[in-house]
Amino acid sequence: MNKYLKIYVAGHRGMVGSAIVRQLRAKGFSNIVTRTHAELDLCNQQAVANFFKDEKPEQVYLAAAKVGGIQANITYPAEFIYQNLMMEANVIHQAFNAGVKKLLFLGSSCIYPKMASQPMAEDALLTGKLEATNEPYAIAKIAGIKLCESYNRQYGQSHSIDYRSVMPTNLYGYGDNYHPENSHVIPALIRRFHEAKESNLGEVIIWGTGTPMREFLYVDDMAEASLFVMALDKSTYDQHTKPMQSHINVGYGSDITIAELSRLIAETIGYQGKITYDTIKPDGAPKKLMNSDLLKTMGWNPKVNIVDGLTYAYRDFLDSHGYK
Ligand SMILES: NC(=O)c1ccc[n+]([C@@H]2O[C@H](COP(=O)([O-])OP(=O)(O)OC[C@H]3O[C@@H](n4cnc5c(N)ncnc54)[C@H](OP(=O)(O)O)[C@@H]3O)[C@@H](O)[C@H]2O)c1
Repeated sequence: MNKYLKIYVAGHRGMVGSAIVRQLRAKGFSNIVTRTHAELDLCNQQAVANFFKDEKPEQVYLAAAKVGGIQANITYPAEFIYQNLMMEANVIHQAFNAGVKKLLFLGSSCIYPKMASQPMAEDALLTGKLEATNEPYAIAKIAGIKLCESYNRQYGQSHSIDYRSVMPTNLYGYGDNYHPENSHVIPALIRRFHEAKESNLGEVIIWGTGTPMREFLYVDDMAEASLFVMALDKSTYDQHTKPMQSHINVGYGSDITIAELSRLIAETIGYQGKITYDTIKPDGAPKKLMNSDLLKTMGWNPKVNIVDGLTYAYRDFLDSHGYK
């Protein structure tokens, strides 16, 4: 592949966008275009149009999004649907206007119905009601997939465009957000166990029964999978997808209980106190596992297991919080 290809990574300071930039650089791509949120608000249609007209990138990775946990989704539903729809519509449409031939859109596993059968395969999309708490966000992500598909269907042949989508499972690792209230389960537990160890707390209490099962993928694996999907030749991609069901799941392939995850995090950090469960608190869905067979069939497998991934993630937490 041409290493001088001009590639725009939207959201390059986020956890996934920064991993994609690292991966592109590691593979020798040197012509990477980025803009911070302050330099380019992707919700601003005119600014996005000007950016694409001036820079004329050849490929786009769309990893910018308004992202947040359950509480943020419940509190700010309007911001989640509006900003995500605007970013996707602006970037995809202006990329098309500027002649971008290849684009990868990053969605999320929350696009699948709440009661989808497990593990959730690509064809579960639009077969049932979504989880209510993040429905606005999920609708925007579904719209992103449909934008890519609709541009391909209308302009794929006439303009030789090829816009693809990947749906990651829960991600963790380098560059994660360790905010005490506003973070995902792995970074939240890393912080809690680390603080418990530092202050010699005898017990860490985990919400719920510890029995729900969740799937986690290390973010560098996600970045590698993104480059893999982008590089697949068109006939392979077309052979494994359909014009109106073109997204590809990216998961680890197996899940673990929250109790097992908590034990592994405690072990990684060296916390020796007790782990107890507040069973009055809600558990959420008993299981959320993606079926990633499609990507496997095409030749991609994750490399980082959960034990190694948690070690790297804890190192990242220590580095980003001033511990040496
Ligand atoms: N993290 C996960 O577990 C996970 C799981 C599944 C799917 N994904 C998907 O992966 C993608 C990236 O997620 P992430 O975890 O990397 O999120 P993140 O760390 O929050 O990064 C998102 C990036 O988008 C930028 N951004 C947000 N609004 C913008 C705007 N209006 N204009 C320009 N830039 C804007 C942010 O910049 P500022 O911070 O400066 O606003 C940030 O750099 C998302 O599509 C998400 O749905 C993530």
